[in-house]
Amino acid sequence: MKPVVDFIQNNADRYVEELREFCAIPSISTQAEHKPDIERCARWLADHMTHIGLENVEIISTAGHPIVYADWLHAPGKPTLLFYGHYDVQPPEPLELWHSPPFELTLRDGDLYARGVVDDKGQVFIHLKALEAFFKNGGRLPVNVKFMIEGEEETGSENVYAFMQKERERLACDALVVSDTTMLGKGIPSVCYGLRGLTYFEVEIEGPSQDLHSGSFGGAVPNPINILCEMMAQLHDKKGRVAIPGFYKDVQPLSKKERAQFKRLPFKDKNFQKTTGVRRLVGEKGFSTIERIWARPTLDINGIFGGYTAQGAKTVIASKASAKFSTRLVANQNPAKITKLVRKRIERLAPPSVKVKFTVHSQGDAWVSPFDHPFVQAGKTALEQGFKKKAVFIREGGSIPLVSTMYKRFRKPCVLLGFGLPDENAHAPNERLNLENYQKGILSVAYFYHAVGEINGNARGGGGKGRKAR
Ligand code: BES
Ligand code: MN
Ligand code: MN
Repeated sequence: MKPVVDFIQNNADRYVEELREFCAIPSISTQAEHKPDIERCARWLADHMTHIGLENVEIISTAGHPIVYADWLHAPGKPTLLFYGHYDVQPPEPLELWHSPPFELTLRDGDLYARGVVDDKGQVFIHLKALEAFFKNGGRLPVNVKFMIEGEEETGSENVYAFMQKERERLACDALVVSDTTMLGKGIPSVCYGLRGLTYFEVEIEGPSQDLHSGSFGGAVPNPINILCEMMAQLHDKKGRVAIPGFYKDVQPLSKKERAQFKRLPFKDKNFQKTTGVRRLVGEKGFSTIERIWARPTLDINGIFGGYTAQGAKTVIASKASAKFSTRLVANQNPAKITKLVRKRIERLAPPSVKVKFTVHSQGDAWVSPFDHPFVQAGKTALEQGFKKKAVFIREGGSIPLVSTMYKRFRKPCVLLGFGLPDENAHAPNERLNLENYQKGILSVAYFYHAVGEINGNARGGGGKGRKAR
């Protein structure tokens, strides 16, 4: 490992320059006008993968944005890891709140700023640079690897599932590896063993067939914005619980053991509050902050719009009003079932005076897994070697639906090594990645691939069942 470790330490500056190129491409998956950028980004990534030594590099078109695939399979008898990540990013708006242009990687006070730098380009790059260090020092990898980097994670990964179904053989592996989560805090390397699921909806209320003067008509016609606000206000009760009948029915309660584990983690409400800038933390009574984020389902309105929102005043009753809202789900809740409950609730809440349009945007299962598998444990040890700090096991409140799908379908361990920090502004202005975490991430991941290469076939299946490498 010495040459690999030295190489990583000696190439730190180059790693930043290359990431700058990757981040310069505005691969925004949700905006149609960025389709050419998405394609350019896939091409750039594919070329880079070829350049470092990966093989069978392919840009696979889908009904949506392309998937970039590559592999290296010359370690007979060694495990095969499937790495999953995404090269698409969230829109950078509102632009005026950025302190440097979102697509020009900028180093400021030890942090690298750019849209996508932590979610997920920098974290994908951590793995590519770790592999490169092996290729450059001995010409081979300690394990077999397959890379699947998609371009529509931020919009719900619609087309990846069909690809996975069709390409079962190509994607066969002993474990899934993902770096698209965060650490509990600076200096606390973390392995993630749980994610929340989600459902995402849009509701549109239509009252009058056109906008009306609020003086001539106010008081006689249904105002869609008033009604939408009333409806949305009834989705929570006074205790901070989601007021949708049946919403909590299938929720898997937290075990005493896990609650105790959560309590032992170095997490402080006060710091968390400071990160968010809120005056106080809120939420469901009877649960701690991390319990509420990691292991309790929630509902949030993500956008609400209608009527006059430009400068000054305009007395008007809008014809339409809309809201986008989503739930976060936990283990054992079924997104399709939740969707039915939410639809029913919305239909009940809407008065007969208006038309309601209800749209489902995306759905994904929660994921929670044991963390005693040798691969997962190897992840923890590798983080400790890379960061020279004790690592912890955490869950996350965010969602990566593909992880639960993979886990359910293939029953393979998923190793989630996150290198972001909770305050690095993913999806928000001034997204950043701590430079030190970027470098230590590359080192940790190199240790991880090395350690997995040392795990023998018998340990691999978990539970003592021997399994051969494919
Ligand atoms: N990297 C995130 C997932 C994530 C967020 C993990 C926070 C851990 C903490 C991912 O890119 C993401 O944003 N996922 C979406 C999923 C949705 C679009 C289906 C999410 O969580 O909102
Ligand atoms: Mn992500
Ligand atoms: Mn994201």
